[in-house]
Amino acid sequence: MKPSIIYIPAMVLISILSVQCNQSQSGQNKTSEDTASMANNNYGGFSSQVEWGKHLVAMGGCGDCHTPKKMTAQGPVPDSSMFLAGHPSQIPPPQINRKEIESKGLVLTNDLSVWIGPWGISYTANLTPDTTGIGNWSEEQFIRAIREGKWMGLEGSRQLLPPMSFVAENMNAAASDDELKAIFAYLRSIKPVHNLTPAPVSPILAVTH
Ligand code: HEC
Repeated sequence: MKPSIIYIPAMVLISILSVQCNQSQSGQNKTSEDTASMANNNYGGFSSQVEWGKHLVAMGGCGDCHTPKKMTAQGPVPDSSMFLAGHPSQIPPPQINRKEIESKGLVLTNDLSVWIGPWGISYTANLTPDTTGIGNWSEEQFIRAIREGKWMGLEGSRQLLPPMSFVAENMNAAASDDELKAIFAYLRSIKPVHNLTPAPVSPILAVTH
């Protein structure tokens, strides 16, 4: 009798585990409609739309690139006084051999707020609710900027440059409209910082040839 007493609970355990596996698999197959309707009900489990957006911005690592860094004895750290304010207007790009970078297809950045590569130079944008940031943007503009990768989310404007083109593509594939709206609501709630970020620069090889 003894072996069967041990055997039965093991079988029960196996069937419980397989039910749990099936459940988590069906969880992964959730459509964006499901995510959106859950979102409408409970802000993704957060107490408000702004709190949900704060969580998504933290998970999305937006600050890695959009918050400039300041140098400390321990190395570069995010400059909290410039939280999500983009590349500081007064800091020029590093002086390097752009021709070599472009011809070899290399990408260079110092603090992730300025990016030099075959597309030229891109500077992270100001995402704070100042007029130099997203202060005058509508929610619709923000959604278009991410979904269509358009500068300022305006119809007919230029395409966003790398690395944001990739970030926007991934966000477009993964995020529901409600999640994008929550991100926008959070960005509208943070401290406005006046910082007119530099316009992008064309590739040097495209200019000289
Ligand atoms: C790997 C670096 C990087 C990350 C991470 C990143 N961005 Fe960006 N972002 C950029 C760069 C660079 C630009 C400027 C692109 C250009 O000028 O075309 C930009 C531009 C933007 C713009 C367009 C601003 C305008 O004026 O049109 C929006 C909106 C934006 N980012 C939102 C976000 C959000 C929200 C996140 C987080 C989910 C995020 N970004 C994460 C680098 C990044």
